[in-house]
Amino acid sequence: MKTYKTIILSIISIISLENIPAQQLPQLRADNIKEIIAAMTLNEKINMVMGVGKENIWEKYGTPRTDFWLKGQVGATFAIPRLGIPYTTLTDGPAGLRIDTIQNGIDNKTYCTAFPSATALASTWNKELVERVGVAMGHETLVYGSDVLLAPGMNIQRNPLCGRNFEYFSEDPLVSGLMAAAMVNGIQSNGVGTSVKHFIANNIESNRRNINAVISQRALREIYLRGFEIALKNSNPWMVMTSYNKVNGYYTSENPELLKNILRNEWNYKGLVVSDWVSGKDFVAQMRAGNELLMPGNYQRQTLLDAVSRGKLSENVLDRNIESILEYIVKTPSFNKYKKTNNPNLAENASISKQAAAEAMVLLENRNNTLPLVNEKKYALFGKTSYNFIAGGTGSGDVNNQHTISLIEGLEKNKLKIDINLSLFYKHFIDSVKQFGKIREDLLLKPKNIVDFTDEPFLTKQQIQNSLKNADVAIITIGRNAGEIWDREVDGYFNLTKSEATLIQDVCDIFHAAKKRVIVILNIGAPLETSSWKHLPDAILLAWQTGQEGGGALIDVLKGNTNPSGKLAVTFPDKYIDIPSAKSFPGVPAKNPVNAFYEEGIYVGYRYYETFGVKPSYPFGYGLSYTNFSFSPLHLNKTTFDDEIEVSVEVKNIGKTAGKEVVQLYIHAPVTVIEKPTYELKGFEKTRLLKPGESQIIKFKVNANSLASYWTAKNQWIAEKGNYEISIGSSSSNMCSKVNMFFEKDIIVQNVNDVIYPNFFFEELSSQTIEK
Ligand code: BGC
Repeated sequence: MKTYKTIILSIISIISLENIPAQQLPQLRADNIKEIIAAMTLNEKINMVMGVGKENIWEKYGTPRTDFWLKGQVGATFAIPRLGIPYTTLTDGPAGLRIDTIQNGIDNKTYCTAFPSATALASTWNKELVERVGVAMGHETLVYGSDVLLAPGMNIQRNPLCGRNFEYFSEDPLVSGLMAAAMVNGIQSNGVGTSVKHFIANNIESNRRNINAVISQRALREIYLRGFEIALKNSNPWMVMTSYNKVNGYYTSENPELLKNILRNEWNYKGLVVSDWVSGKDFVAQMRAGNELLMPGNYQRQTLLDAVSRGKLSENVLDRNIESILEYIVKTPSFNKYKKTNNPNLAENASISKQAAAEAMVLLENRNNTLPLVNEKKYALFGKTSYNFIAGGTGSGDVNNQHTISLIEGLEKNKLKIDINLSLFYKHFIDSVKQFGKIREDLLLKPKNIVDFTDEPFLTKQQIQNSLKNADVAIITIGRNAGEIWDREVDGYFNLTKSEATLIQDVCDIFHAAKKRVIVILNIGAPLETSSWKHLPDAILLAWQTGQEGGGALIDVLKGNTNPSGKLAVTFPDKYIDIPSAKSFPGVPAKNPVNAFYEEGIYVGYRYYETFGVKPSYPFGYGLSYTNFSFSPLHLNKTTFDDEIEVSVEVKNIGKTAGKEVVQLYIHAPVTVIEKPTYELKGFEKTRLLKPGESQIIKFKVNANSLASYWTAKNQWIAEKGNYEISIGSSSSNMCSKVNMFFEKDIIVQNVNDVIYPNFFFEELSSQTIEK
């Protein structure tokens, strides 16, 4: 126990150290980080490993309010002016910078651009385009004076009910990893940072701060870690954000097996590990595990101080974590004295947002070439969402943009006629919902979201009948919104509501009887049920939640100015019960789940549907175009495989309209010892815009690393000997061109640590139990 005298002495020494004038002290530079740490007091060290806290807890913890950040920014690191360490700020999020629009001391409103959400961006399958979106997001981050954009979100879309799916790219780790890398590279090209999140397995929002995801080592390696691994190999995000949940018994932020053995040692990650906002329970364990920065911070102070004074937390651990934090700080605009302008290029960024939106839309059905709409001039717009486009989801993935363009405005801007009676009916409905509806702020919903969470109004058959005379065509928009903190329900979210189903049925009956066509637009953030109604309309266009320019982009696609080239990066199942995680989602107990058993193992998304012969409504990789493409036979650059082989294919536009095609490379690997999914995506590229008759050669490099599977018993990535079928697919269900490659011997790609073992025994799905 410290004596009274020693306590007094150490307080005096802290005070006096902190009071040494700055001229006599080292000032932070990239090459004197260790010297700076040596000059810090314990108090300063504790400050450095925490954020400064959230606005709403500043008062409680006594931190003086500072005016260095904009309202809406979510976090900052501490400043130590005497050592030349400035504050740095961290801001959400994945669809664009999320700050408030009204700020003290700034005359103009601080709007940002709402870009298409991640699921939509992934559907472009266009890495260059996603990188351009990143460049634009990063520029807004910079000019508004933020140092880090807390993006991209890149968890695997395991189940359509997860509230945050819209923030995530795909059910496939390769798509997630490469899209995340493209976005990181784009954002960081501005000299600001990113934080890939949420590391790992944050696929459930129910009880998200405590839920334990129980996952086999193989599924972790091949599915849930793989995307992050790919992202980190192809980009260098300044930060990795750990997730709220536990995996196999431990909070990810407290688990050295995850943060040290895998992230640092196996993957050689050199950036900063930051916690999610108020996550984990044991701050000392977080520090020791290498979760170097605790956000939003401040409330951990006393625990950390006590732990140091009791010898439970060594200063060496703090020093090591601070080193990483300072390595981050010296890269930031704040450190490099960047002067913010608060003046983003909103017009240019709106045009990038629109281009990405148009390229993200997926044409699901197009009977008798209903689309593009060439001659139709008069439109009957059904569904509240036709008048109230959903740019993106709720919570930290939201953006405070100036205005979201809805389909009706898109039509009006293009001087196309709308049925006024219908439009008045819906506008009246929307106004009254906005006026009288109840908003759930506890679910991070804003008043602007209230219409999204209200069911369709009832429309009489007579009303639909009346609209016939004012319309050449009917468009029905079905909308869905969701967000963090809570997961959605099967009924009313995955399945259509009764009013939506009736609306589609009635409009189709009445318009078809008059020989007029009906198009359904899906303005959604995650798959919904389509099988029971998809035969009714003439065309279905999946618009996703495509940001503020959604309505304009929709017109481009509907009118054929843009030929749709989006493909699904997530499967649309036939029925909810077909989803491999249907029975285990969200977890047990169902109400406030404590454990979630990932019983489907590696069979997530198309890996399941293809292997188990379960036909989805629309498979992964699927999407129609206004033209057709052919693929040449595949060509390999050598006959025997050593380290790497090049696969090439010629894609030709054999239709009448210019268009882009996504070239998807799948492998079917031999099952020697380890079972494998029937197909796995191993590469993808998008062609340039090909005119009719034009072709392009696309090349892929395939190496043993990309072919390997994880062998749990040996903790090894191994490409087993045998025959590998390499195919180009127009989706995971339709392989167009194939070639075989034979491996004489097993190739061991990597031996890894035997870590993150499930803390429960559970039965995992296996294809080897299928009766042939
Ligand atoms: C979310 C993160 C977000 C953070 C800061 C958390 O609740 O999970 O994705 O970046 O808040 O807003």
